[in-house]
Amino acid sequence: MAEDLSINKGSKEEQYKSLVPQIKALLTGEDDLIANLANIAAALKEQFNFFWVGFYLVKNEQLVLGPFQGPVACTRIAYNRGVCGSAWAQKETLIVPNVDEFPGHIACSSLSKSEIVIPLFRDNEVYAVLDVDSSSLNTFDEIDKKYLQEILAQLS
Ligand code: SME
Repeated sequence: MAEDLSINKGSKEEQYKSLVPQIKALLTGEDDLIANLANIAAALKEQFNFFWVGFYLVKNEQLVLGPFQGPVACTRIAYNRGVCGSAWAQKETLIVPNVDEFPGHIACSSLSKSEIVIPLFRDNEVYAVLDVDSSSLNTFDEIDKKYLQEILAQLS
């Protein structure tokens, strides 16, 4: 496909509905994980202009920074630490409406106010997480969870 993204300006759900098939097309025929994670991060940033969007990859029992869009970020996160390490340990998507109220939140930037972290699974084990940060409170909900999970399911 052409590598230009078509940006939708509707409701959040309309934006995801426009973006999901475009991301699917971007991933089709490409099996390199890093290339695909990089394009997913870029597409989400371009459509939603999230403050920070990117991946951490499980390496030697830590999360290590992977492809992302946004300001520079912490490079390593321990198991069960912060929102990312907790989503890894719990094997669940975590939606944090106010990061200041999440015990152990790791503030890579003081501008980040709310966050969603979604684990990626291979053989029932987490091999990476997607972390999306917003500079506003209460940005993420079940709509984000549903469509972000649908996007990530394309990787398997
Ligand atoms: N806030 C995350 C750390 C990663 S950065 O926000 C990019 C956490 O608590 O795990």
